[in-house]
Amino acid sequence: MAQSIPKEFINHLLEKVNIVDVINGYVKLEKKGNDYWARCPFHNEKTSSFSVSESKQFYYCFGCGATGNAITFIMEHTNKTYPEAIEELANSVGMDIPRTRESNEKYEAKKTIQNALEDAKKLFTDNLKRSEKAINYLKNRNISGNTAKQFEIGYSEDDFHNLGRALGENYSESNLIDAGLLVKKDKNSYDKFRDRIMFPIFDIYGKVIAFGGRDISGDKKIDVAKYMNSPETSLFSKKKVLYNLHIAKADKISKDTLLIVEGYMDVIALHQSGVNNVVATLGTAVTPDNLEQCFKYTKEIICCFDGDRAGKDAAWKGVRNIMSVIKDGNNISFVFLPEGRDPDDIVNEGGKDLWLKYIEQKVSLEDFIYNKYSDEVNLETAAGKTQYLQKIEELLKPLKAPIFKKILHESLNDRIGSKYLPPSELKDPKKEKISSNKAKSPLQKAILILLHHPSINIDEELLSDKRIASNEGVILLKSIAKNISESQPTNLGRIIENFRNDEKNYKTLEKISVMETIDLEWPEKEFNACLCLVIKNFLKEELKNVDPLNLEKFSNIQREIYEIQEKAKNY
Ligand code: UTP
Ligand code: MN
Repeated sequence: MAQSIPKEFINHLLEKVNIVDVINGYVKLEKKGNDYWARCPFHNEKTSSFSVSESKQFYYCFGCGATGNAITFIMEHTNKTYPEAIEELANSVGMDIPRTRESNEKYEAKKTIQNALEDAKKLFTDNLKRSEKAINYLKNRNISGNTAKQFEIGYSEDDFHNLGRALGENYSESNLIDAGLLVKKDKNSYDKFRDRIMFPIFDIYGKVIAFGGRDISGDKKIDVAKYMNSPETSLFSKKKVLYNLHIAKADKISKDTLLIVEGYMDVIALHQSGVNNVVATLGTAVTPDNLEQCFKYTKEIICCFDGDRAGKDAAWKGVRNIMSVIKDGNNISFVFLPEGRDPDDIVNEGGKDLWLKYIEQKVSLEDFIYNKYSDEVNLETAAGKTQYLQKIEELLKPLKAPIFKKILHESLNDRIGSKYLPPSELKDPKKEKISSNKAKSPLQKAILILLHHPSINIDEELLSDKRIASNEGVILLKSIAKNISESQPTNLGRIIENFRNDEKNYKTLEKISVMETIDLEWPEKEFNACLCLVIKNFLKEELKNVDPLNLEKFSNIQREIYEIQEKAKNY
């Protein structure tokens, strides 16, 4: 997919967009000195360690090491694919993406589905206005007209062909099947949603990507599912999407806590009562994708479940799923509601106040784990305690947050009077990365200088010196130099972009690009001096391998070393 957008276009695009404007659209940046700063959007922090360089068109977080150019930022921050990120940037500066025929067809097909869903949403909301039955249903469930409007709630007629007819003028049957709006059985197609209250499901940008429908046929039909979702389509995957995230993420409180509940009606009832930081899964247990996405916007996730067995099981699945995605500074807790009652019931009974009373009783992750495991083993015996510790060891294995892992271990061990001894290799890898973030060799330093000063004059003779021609780093350095002379990128962000498809080198460059730079008065001299040093180091290695009795060869290399040292003095 990435290859279908021409490189030249991406170069032009990166020339036109300004990373400061791009990031400012998501995170408030403040100018201090030459750079722009903010609290890092990729990890939770109180002080600003996230820096954006306008001249380099690159961002870097001194706290968590996040780094990249404008495209990377959009991909990471908004969870977009590479082509989607390019599209967003292109739109923002009014550029059209040239496409190959194949990618264009895919793009057009998606657009068609998107439009069909948008039109279906209109049809459903129009239907609702005309349906006394649907309006009464919502009234009985205490949903105000205003709320219905806000969530763009609609109604699908009790008719097998209402949508097919209405949208059939502008869309083919197969378009509507691909959009998940029609179902085909044998040779006939018919409306998937019938006699249902319709909840449009939006992506985080607020575009409709699917629907959920609640049956309101009463007991007329017996074996219909109470809720039905759109099938998986090219726009929709129910395991990845959370209902209402596009609205909830904009709420201020969501930065601190975000609630995950189980149903559409729960989100809507809570929202109507003034609780806006709430999203719902779509009939699945909370997935790692769900959690990862939420942690982009919040520090703490509160999962709300029915207090029955099924609710506890679903919560436990959430605990397992959290392990691979939680980061230091994130938190998760659980609220168990009285059996058989959901947030919608609670809000209808006692409004926001009653709801908050339940939230106050949230169970922390450590308490939840302790309660579950202490139930499963006999903590009165040494064997039981051992099993308890083994279970914890196993559970926390996939946890990547080093500090949180240690604290959780300590707290859970403490409860059974066992001292936790952390393995000696437990170190914060990020801290290590940051404390030693200096160029470690003259070659790294040369690459670093070239990345930051692409317009320097390179001594071609040094760069193409045969003695270092097979060195991998020198090969990379050459291809950067070639790249600069061909596409003339003026900044770091653009240079690196040219290597995105070359995974190994891209990673190397990303690593080097964030190494400490010192303000060099003569970057050009420094660069060429570094190259001399690379050659000298090569010769010194050679010298080690030469038989000292081979006087001729030995003295030749010594002479070469002397010459390159003298040459270095010119720089
Ligand atoms: P519930 O059965 O708990 O429904 O399903 P609810 O939210 O209380 O609904 P009301 O109050 O009776 O209208 C919770 C969620 O599980 C999914 C839906 O996403 C629903 O919102 N679900 C439920 C299905 O996908 N299919 C079903 O048949 C039932
Ligand atoms: Mn309910």
